[in-house]
Amino acid sequence: MTDLLSHNEPLPDERSDDRSDIATGTASSVQGEPCNELRGAAHHAWRLAEPRAKAQAALEIGRQLASASLLIDAARGFDDELRPGRPSMPRLVHPRDVPNRGAGTPAGRAALLHAIAHIEFNAIDLALDAVWRFPGMPSDWYLDWASVASEEAAHFSLLADELERRGHRYGDFDAHDGLWEMAMKTRDDPLARMALVPRLMEARGLDVTPIIRGKLEQAGDVQACAILDIILRDEVGHVAIGNHWYGVLCRRQGLEPEGAWDALARRYCASAPKAPFNLEARLRAGFTQAELLAWQSAQASAGPADA
Ligand SMILES: [Fe+2]
Ligand SMILES: [Fe+2]
Repeated sequence: MTDLLSHNEPLPDERSDDRSDIATGTASSVQGEPCNELRGAAHHAWRLAEPRAKAQAALEIGRQLASASLLIDAARGFDDELRPGRPSMPRLVHPRDVPNRGAGTPAGRAALLHAIAHIEFNAIDLALDAVWRFPGMPSDWYLDWASVASEEAAHFSLLADELERRGHRYGDFDAHDGLWEMAMKTRDDPLARMALVPRLMEARGLDVTPIIRGKLEQAGDVQACAILDIILRDEVGHVAIGNHWYGVLCRRQGLEPEGAWDALARRYCASAPKAPFNLEARLRAGFTQAELLAWQSAQASAGPADA
């Protein structure tokens, strides 16, 4: 799973979703306390360290999205905090030092599920971070990323439950911090965040998940396969949201999306996505044939050393 971590939409006011029940304005919330203001609630959940508590808080935010009493204070500013609440375990190590995750043994499959649980735990924080960190975005931005946070929490909970059925718990295996490092590099720029987190790192999951699922199926691990099916289904939607907002922000800034992506990847020292791609899933998630072909050709012309 280390490879998972190593790596023409309408403008917001043109979207047809009827979200007229969501009020915008200033809520009388206190920073750090749960409240009915979406960004404050996201910040509160982001700061929770206990994994199940964070997941529950994100799930509760998801439930509140349907509530007419939910407020969004898009103008509110927060301190520039770098680290979300995290438990003392798992220990974070260099990617080369993470444990063996072969699918052929129960221990290897537990390590594999733990690695995916760690990605999902990070993904809760990444989506919550998008909600609270960036002021002045359209309401749909906050609603989209809040719904993603809730789905990531559901993914994490499924995996944490499954680990417990197998005699383990989240925190039992060492993990690494690649996803969060890119989140922090892009914390000042929502365009860079969209380009390099959902469109690069999260989209990598679309390519890798079916390969992992195949190994688990070969090992007869029906439960793990069922969880990965749910994750892959939802992740197409998350990457589609990332692609949508990447397009919106490019248009706002008058940028051509493919050229802008290359420039951002250079600026933030990110590598281009590596083929082979899950083309069907990536196309459903909003990538274009042209950009997927361009990445494939660039990789082919770079030769095997870079492949
Ligand atoms: Fe997920
Ligand atoms: Fe996701």
